[in-house]
Amino acid sequence: MKTKKTVWIPAIIAVTVAALLVIYYYYMPSVSGGGPGLRPPGGEVSNVPGHMGRRPGEKGGGGNGELFKTSGTISVFLGAATFSWFWFKKKLRSPSMLVRKTGELLHSMHKLLGWATLILIAVHGIYFLITKLQDNKTYTGIAGFVILLAIAGYGFFINKVRNKWMRTVHRSLGLLWVPVLLLHAGGSAIMAVIASLAVGGLVWVLEKMVGKTAEPSRGIDN
Ligand code: HEM
Ligand code: HEM
Repeated sequence: MKTKKTVWIPAIIAVTVAALLVIYYYYMPSVSGGGPGLRPPGGEVSNVPGHMGRRPGEKGGGGNGELFKTSGTISVFLGAATFSWFWFKKKLRSPSMLVRKTGELLHSMHKLLGWATLILIAVHGIYFLITKLQDNKTYTGIAGFVILLAIAGYGFFINKVRNKWMRTVHRSLGLLWVPVLLLHAGGSAIMAVIASLAVGGLVWVLEKMVGKTAEPSRGIDN
C-alpha cells in the first residue's frame, strides 16, 4: 500500500517560512542590538559588560520584561522534556524500573507538556511583539513559534490521520526546532539540549547496568 507523502506539505511550508524569517534576521540591520546581525568584527556591544540585548536606561523591559523572558526560558525546558519522551519510546518494557516508570510518566504527560509549551510561549511572544516589535530577535522568535505550531498540529493529528509519516514529520520538526532555538534562546537552548541528551545517556547507562546484573530475557524481544 502506498502511503501519501503529501502529509509533509504543511511541515515544508512551516519550515520555509521559518527559514525565510531566519534569513531576514541575518540581513536586517541590527535595530536594537537584539541579534548578531552581520556586524563588523569587534562589534559595537563589546564594551558593555553584561549586555543582554537591553541598553541601560532603555524604557520598557524592567521587572515585567524579566518575567516574560523567564516564560521563554521555561518553555525551552518544557520543550526539552516533551522531546525527551523519544528516548523512552521503545523502553516501556525496560528491565530497569526507573526507565520504565519515567517513560510512562513522560508518555502520559507528553501532550500536556506540548500544549503547555505552546501556551507559555504564546504569552512570551505576544508580550515581546507588543513591547519589542523592532527587536531583531522577534524574527527568530516567530520562526521558532511557527515550527512549534506545526509540531503541535502534527501532534494533534497523529492518532487521527492514519499515515506512517505523521510521527516522522512530528519528530523531524522537533529536531529542526533546535537550531532555531539555539539562535533565538541562546544559553537556555544549549542547556536544554544538553539536559535532553543527558536524559538519553542516562537511559542508555541504566539499561546497560540492569542488563548486566540480571536479565535472562535479554535477546528474546530484540
Ligand atoms: C512570536 C514569537 C516570539 C517572539 C516575538 C519573541 C521575542 C523575543 C524577544 C524580543 C526576546 C529578547 C528579550 C530581551 O532581550 O529583552 C526574546 C527572548 C527569549 N525568547 Fe523569545 N520570542 C518568541 C518566541 C520564542 C520561542 C518559540 C521560544 C522558545 C521556546 C523563545 C524563548 C526565548 C528565550 C529563552 C529568551 C531569552 C533569551 C536571552 O536570555 O537572551 N521565544 N524573545
Ligand atoms: C503540542 C502538542 C503535542 C502533541 C498533541 C503531541 C502529540 C504526540 C503524539 C500523539 C505522539 C505519539 C505518542 C505515542 O507514540 O503514543 C507524539 C510523539 C512524539 N512527540 Fe509529540 N506532541 C506535541 C508536542 C511535541 C513537542 C513540542 C515535541 C518536541 C519538541 C514533541 C516530540 C515528539 C517526539 C520526539 C515523539 C516520538 C515520535 C516517534 O518517534 O514516534 N512533541 N507526540
